[in-house]
Amino acid sequence: MTHFLIREKFLNFFKKNNHVIVPSSSLIPSDKSVLLTTAGMQQFKPYYIGELDPISDFNSKNTTSIQKCFRTSDIDEVGDESHLTFFEMLGNFSFGGYFKKEAILLAYEFLNKELNLEIDYVTIFDPSKVASDDWRKNVPEDKESFEIWRNLGFEESRIKKEGIDNFWGPTGNEGPCGPTTEIYIKNKNNQSIEIWNIVFNEYFCDKNKILTPLKTNGVDTGMGLERLLMICQNKFNIFETDLFDSLLKILPTNLDQKIKRIISDHIKASVFLIADGVLPSNKEAGYILRRILRRAIVYEYIYKFEKNILNNLIYEVIKIYKEIYSELITKEQAILEEILKEKEKFYKTLDRGLKELKKRPEINSKIAFYLYETFGLPYEIIKELGGQKALNLNYDDFKKEFENHQEISRRGQEKKFGGHGLILDTKELKASSEEEIKKVIRLHTATHLLQQALREVLGNEVRQAGSDINPERTRFDFTFNRKLTQEEIKKVENIVNQKINEDLPVNFVEMKKEDAEKIGALSFFKEKYPPIVKVYFVGSKIENAWSKEFCGGPHVLKTGEIGKFVIQKEEGIGSGIRRIRAIVLP
Ligand code: GLY
Repeated sequence: MTHFLIREKFLNFFKKNNHVIVPSSSLIPSDKSVLLTTAGMQQFKPYYIGELDPISDFNSKNTTSIQKCFRTSDIDEVGDESHLTFFEMLGNFSFGGYFKKEAILLAYEFLNKELNLEIDYVTIFDPSKVASDDWRKNVPEDKESFEIWRNLGFEESRIKKEGIDNFWGPTGNEGPCGPTTEIYIKNKNNQSIEIWNIVFNEYFCDKNKILTPLKTNGVDTGMGLERLLMICQNKFNIFETDLFDSLLKILPTNLDQKIKRIISDHIKASVFLIADGVLPSNKEAGYILRRILRRAIVYEYIYKFEKNILNNLIYEVIKIYKEIYSELITKEQAILEEILKEKEKFYKTLDRGLKELKKRPEINSKIAFYLYETFGLPYEIIKELGGQKALNLNYDDFKKEFENHQEISRRGQEKKFGGHGLILDTKELKASSEEEIKKVIRLHTATHLLQQALREVLGNEVRQAGSDINPERTRFDFTFNRKLTQEEIKKVENIVNQKINEDLPVNFVEMKKEDAEKIGALSFFKEKYPPIVKVYFVGSKIENAWSKEFCGGPHVLKTGEIGKFVIQKEEGIGSGIRRIRAIVLP
């Protein structure tokens, strides 16, 4: 069964069952609260919440589609048997037309009768599996779905009860959401994989995670086309299906299997993103495109692929999909040009990255992460090219480094990237592109140095009273009761620059809050800290560190990365509070 046939079977089945076929929407969604389209329901969001009327637009309350989707949430898993960044989702949707019973029966009938597949088990929502402080805790158990599956002959052991994994949405900040029932089927490896997610949109979730019932109940389902093909074509993994096998064959035969998979997924995703108008950049969707594209290009560079391989991959992607997505034909030239342009730019960065790698006497996880972050060198390349110097480097430490770095930016990221990507937006650090983030990190470490220098020059009554950092400058407020003299300002500036010149390491340790206070780590009185805190220190050991502060990071690895520190302004902003504005130069 080819992918063409499965597509046709799916759409025709739902058409036959009173659904209107709607084409895939663009990967750039009209819903601005998300960067890219991650699900079939996104183009239908206004119909669930009553903003638009399905009858006037589709002449039906039920629709079906095959939607182009892009998710960064699974990016680390790409290369295994079943995860991708770009994929297509088969879906049927109802805006007040039908609800649980019909939705489950339709899915059952399609799998069972049309495709002859056997369901292994299903899952339903159960709030007793949800943490007590979770916003989904008060959603009732989905007993109705349980009964429907029971009536279809499923014994209780095949109807598993799950928590938040069986609750979908909202996408972005707010929107329709509700409990789900998921269908699992065994693959050729005899493992059960999730194949279809059937969502019952019963609630509207607002920005504060408050749920209110929707006026009309909705149905939203999503079934990954590639996974379904893997089952129907009886393959061990999605890369053996007819949406991938010809792509993998283009790559050098001796290349590692996982790398082949990553390259083919990332090139395919890049082709589709560019066709929908995304261009590589340092911001938002453009940044995601740049990241995946560079991930593919880096292998070409390191393993010195023959000249035409990437282009052949692009042509092959277009060939596989052109009958379904005509934009690939009209945008072919632009796709080739954009990828070539990005490649030329990135090759220069890679040249510098490799030089940097060669320069380092030892490559530990921190340096590996730095090389990854700054030059786009992937872990496996660093490990391979590092040779003896990277003998002690292992993936777990690298990953930890990555997670530490990401932690502080998570709150900001979740808003726009669904958990992945890079946006730094905490109370005091604000940035949204790769370059801005690097600048903010340099300013952040400089701010720690500034506080300690102020204490050395003015005395220990200096305490932080606030701070705000953006890519332009740091603004640091502190307690002190008079204007600083020019000499004092110069002295402070000189001390900071001296510490930068010493190129001291910056590290953190986690410790009990009381212990951190005991060793004199500086904290910010307005902030409430958890029982275990991170203490960032400047110097080789915490015992004799020159600066120690309660802080979530992120920071530079060595103070030398900060550049030249310049105080631009000192002023009073209220009784006993002074403010310094400072910048860093390359
Ligand atoms: N909207 C349902 C899903 O993506 O799983």
